[in-house]
Amino acid sequence: MSMRIGLTGCGFISTYHYDCLKRVYGVDTEVVGVFDVVRGKAETFASERGMRAFSSLSDLLDNVDAVTVGTPPATHESIILQAAEAGKHVMCEKPLIGYAPDPGETDFNGLLAPKEPMRDAVYQSLDRIERAVHHNDIRFCYFENLIYSPSLQKEREVIEKTGAQVLRMLGEESHRGNHAAYSSQWKYACGGSLISTGSHPIGALLYLKRIEGFARGDGPIKPAGVSARIQCLTRKGSYKDKGFLRSDYQDVEDYAWIHIDFEDETVGDVITGATVLGGIYDYVEVFANNHRSRCRMNPVDTLDVYNPDATGFDQVYLEYGLTTNKGWSHAVTDEYWVMGYQQEMQDAVASFTMNRKPIADLDVAVDTTKVIYSAYLSAEREGAKVLLG
Ligand SMILES: NC(=O)c1ccc[n+]([C@@H]2O[C@H](COP(=O)([O-])OP(=O)(O)OC[C@H]3O[C@@H](n4cnc5c(N)ncnc54)[C@H](O)[C@@H]3O)[C@@H](O)[C@H]2O)c1
Repeated sequence: MSMRIGLTGCGFISTYHYDCLKRVYGVDTEVVGVFDVVRGKAETFASERGMRAFSSLSDLLDNVDAVTVGTPPATHESIILQAAEAGKHVMCEKPLIGYAPDPGETDFNGLLAPKEPMRDAVYQSLDRIERAVHHNDIRFCYFENLIYSPSLQKEREVIEKTGAQVLRMLGEESHRGNHAAYSSQWKYACGGSLISTGSHPIGALLYLKRIEGFARGDGPIKPAGVSARIQCLTRKGSYKDKGFLRSDYQDVEDYAWIHIDFEDETVGDVITGATVLGGIYDYVEVFANNHRSRCRMNPVDTLDVYNPDATGFDQVYLEYGLTTNKGWSHAVTDEYWVMGYQQEMQDAVASFTMNRKPIADLDVAVDTTKVIYSAYLSAEREGAKVLLG
């Protein structure tokens, strides 16, 4: 069985997608080419990798069996719908989708805009995506790499094999600020830290509760309600900028706290933000009735390396989000594997060829999006509980 894959977008994450596609085993996988709205970028990206740069998404779709979605969140829905209508499988980066204003709405401010209509619009987008995926009978893989990380998958095994009841969880992804220029504006990013980095631990927590329900022979245990607060810490009048944190956000938050109530009366908490120094900070803690786990995605502490020189390690990648390589660093030894990027690609391609559901499927992506936009509504109400509906 062989698979022809196309990439949409050729920015930061598409490099990961390409490299991880090259690691896929057991399926003859060809990376055919890439489409990016910036034609020159696509041509450079493609020629460096010996593949084609396509001039439109429809051209790319005509030549592949499946596509990755590695573009800003505001563009995800239209790419997914076009791919589904063409009968092509989809591997979509987190976040699945979010609210983006009409291009004509030039004075849109995401922080100030009323959240209930935004949430309604997002729920309608989710319906359109679910209908397109089912109607066109394609496979959809949600690229939430934390779900695929080795530590979270080990925790899945513990829950499945011990019949654990997970009473509460705590998850975080934070760093010192997003690398992507678009992420300072809601109209491209569909929100700030809550959706950008918060989507990772939210997805992981929802996945574990689903697993718990399935392990008991019941259906998935789903999120029922959410309370949240958001902050713009680097834009407060009192903020003293030392230059280490990104602080040019326009209408998006840089910190969020989210409390999730599950339908079985257990809970999960997520902290996320763009004000954390020292490299990307990712973990999920599980407090169950029969065990306790701490899943470390980053730092993982497999290699601590000491560099006495401020410039000596310029060519060595140690970890996402470090401001210096000097002194001790927790070097990530194989980021694609430790962070689950390689495994998500392997699972996606296998799910397409074997015609089975992927580990991270559309259901977890949809629920994650509902939690995120209900959290924005709760934050607008100063943390009052909002039911997912
Ligand atoms: N899983 C992770 O750890 C992780 C990390 C970073 C980014 N992401 C996700 O990946 C996606 C892209 O982020 P990024 O950091 O690579 O952004 P980026 O800005 O580095 O790259 C995005 C690329 O998409 C192109 N583009 C924009 N609109 C397009 C369209 N309609 N069609 C085709 N190309 C288009 C841009 O020209 C750009 O080259 C986002 O959804 C983001 O949340 C995930």
